[in-house]
Amino acid sequence: MSIPSSALPVAATRVLLGIGGGIAAYKSAELVRRLRDGGADVRVVMTASAQQLVGEATFQALSGNPVRTSLWDAEAEAAMGHIELARWADQLLIAPATADLMARLAAGMADDLLTTLVLASKAPLWLAPAMNQQMWAHPATQVNLSKLRARGVSLLGPAVGDQACGDVGPGRMLEPGAIARAVLGACSDDVELAGLAGMPLLVSAGPTFEDIDPVRYLGNRSSGRMGYAIAEIAATAGAKVTLVSGPVSLATPAGVRRIDVRSALDMQAAVDAEVQGKVAFISAAAVADFRPALVSGSKIKKGDAELEVKLVRNPDILAELSQRADRPFLVGFAAETEDVEQHAREKLSSKRLDMIAANRVGMHGSGFESAENALTVYWNGGDAEIALADKRDVARQLLALMVRRIADRDGHNQRGVAS
Ligand code: PMT
Repeated sequence: MSIPSSALPVAATRVLLGIGGGIAAYKSAELVRRLRDGGADVRVVMTASAQQLVGEATFQALSGNPVRTSLWDAEAEAAMGHIELARWADQLLIAPATADLMARLAAGMADDLLTTLVLASKAPLWLAPAMNQQMWAHPATQVNLSKLRARGVSLLGPAVGDQACGDVGPGRMLEPGAIARAVLGACSDDVELAGLAGMPLLVSAGPTFEDIDPVRYLGNRSSGRMGYAIAEIAATAGAKVTLVSGPVSLATPAGVRRIDVRSALDMQAAVDAEVQGKVAFISAAAVADFRPALVSGSKIKKGDAELEVKLVRNPDILAELSQRADRPFLVGFAAETEDVEQHAREKLSSKRLDMIAANRVGMHGSGFESAENALTVYWNGGDAEIALADKRDVARQLLALMVRRIADRDGHNQRGVAS
């Protein structure tokens, strides 16, 4: 069985864009363009502070709709009341979301038009935070963030980098293209990935680094691209993705919550802490099987003698997880150079996995580091080929297979209970 590749189609959708009073509000003009380019109908609501920074007329011209700024504008209310506007929206997006706006949303306040609309709407809420890095790190903001996340709000960013205030750190608003892709992707009518909407998903990516001393480590050639592509496509289809990432130099995909780790032991701790409540875990990370028995606290001096580094086994994260009663659907990867099916099926059974995606590594242009990959996916009683393609396309096909397998399993369990 081979699944044809196709790009994510974008459905026309109604986006209510709230603009908060951050300097990044100038980027929201481009965001309106990007949303409209993606086929969305956009209506803009600006807070009082946003109006100090950017002009209403710009958003009116770009969205092609009147801009709303106040609950008390009788003329605007007569044209479309705020409750009607709240019901109109398929998606609520606030970009930039300032620290103050996030605090008011977390407290459930309705002290201006935008916060009132959020309370009055059932539509999914997306926030693209933008603020000074110190404000972002402040415990008050982080507590507000946890409250909003617990209510199912999706976070887009923030990105890390230079800030308008001269600081460097997390707090920059994501680029408009990435925000638009995430929001419109979630409304995609990609039926094969529809089952991912709202699904809590755990993905691991990248290598692990096993330290020998403060400057040396054992690593591998995983770039993280395969796992990041899975996280990106799943988030775009509306999954709530947590990404446990080894050391890589890739940007966090929009809408993905990322946890950085270094060693296999760190990765196991993060996976164990995050796995509860997840429907599936896709383990694309290349986890080191061994680590040095001892990590030297100071740089090992080179002498004339040979250096022997004793290695001990790392735990097998997937195999240990599969023993748990509350295990999610488990998808492993197998990096093989020969006898791919035999080795992959052995891992499927010894690690008690639900699916395993085997890539032939060592072949030029696929597997480690490259932009493309090809997989053969095995499960008990079946297999599927995913032909060489861009890793995002491969990720899409793998996720479609996973959604189908989970649906089959759930259908089977339900039939079992009923009979
Ligand atoms: O990151 P890229 O450059 O894009 O490359 C992608 C990739 C080739 C790294 C990826 O597609 C891949 O194959 N990842 C798994 C590589 C691997 O470690 O395979 P394995 O056969 O050693 O492990 C089998 C499975 O067990 C994997 O899902 C692995 O995450 C997991 N494992 C392995 C060892 C360990 N100690 N704990 C584990 O959970």
